Amino acid sequence: MRIDVVTIFPEMFGEVLDTSIIGIARERGLVTVNCHDLRDWTHDRHRTTDDEPYGGGPGMVMKPEPLFEAVDALQAQDDEPATVVFFTPAGTPLNQAIAEQLSSRERLIMVCGRYEGFDERALSLADLQLSIGDYVLTGGELPAMVTIDAITRLLPGVLGDAASSEDESFSDGLLEYPQYTRPAEFRGMDVPEVLRSGDHGRIAAWRREQAVTRTAIVRPELLAHATLSDSEKAIVDGLFDADSEQEVPQR
Ligand code: ADE
Repeated sequence: MRIDVVTIFPEMFGEVLDTSIIGIARERGLVTVNCHDLRDWTHDRHRTTDDEPYGGGPGMVMKPEPLFEAVDALQAQDDEPATVVFFTPAGTPLNQAIAEQLSSRERLIMVCGRYEGFDERALSLADLQLSIGDYVLTGGELPAMVTIDAITRLLPGVLGDAASSEDESFSDGLLEYPQYTRPAEFRGMDVPEVLRSGDHGRIAAWRREQAVTRTAIVRPELLAHATLSDSEKAIVDGLFDADSEQEVPQR
């Protein structure tokens, strides 16, 4: 996969792209990430990328011309057309399904905004506008890094143990079950007996029940898209049933 990032702060990406899984994936040639300075597509002495908003108001708006030139120039560098992603808090919330879809593309161009946002006409370049959450950051660079991370770890050959990206939070619409490692007892807290039983059937059943219960408590809205068996639905109903004898676990 090839990713081109357009930003006025290309230097922000260095450590993140060099470190850990993303660094190794790049070294192995599984992903190429090129960070470009948007100012390279400006033509004035001050390399201006923003201007005042029409209609007044606070802040500055990213000018359309350098953004169009940048995306056109990068598209022209490769026969394979790139999917163009703009980062904005007004975009579609990033989730695991979107990360999976993006990880199947050959080429991505990611465009990071700054200031109060993009001139609306520049957004016509985008195949997808993405938000990483309902809060406003100072720019799209961190969202681009988050998205590159979420995508890269899904690329074939990147994670050593392929199962580790299949069995985790969100891949089946549920949060991940609790994990433990040694020691078996730590500061009075025990690893659940079932995990030490060696009984793989019981372990799988316990993990599934934990994932369903945890999701029902912390992120109940996710259950609308998860496939639950009748007995799992009964567990969920029990949690929210006011007359239930069952104690609702604390977060
Ligand atoms: N730019 C500023 N805030 C953002 C957010 N939450 N997601 C994506 N891009 C942004």
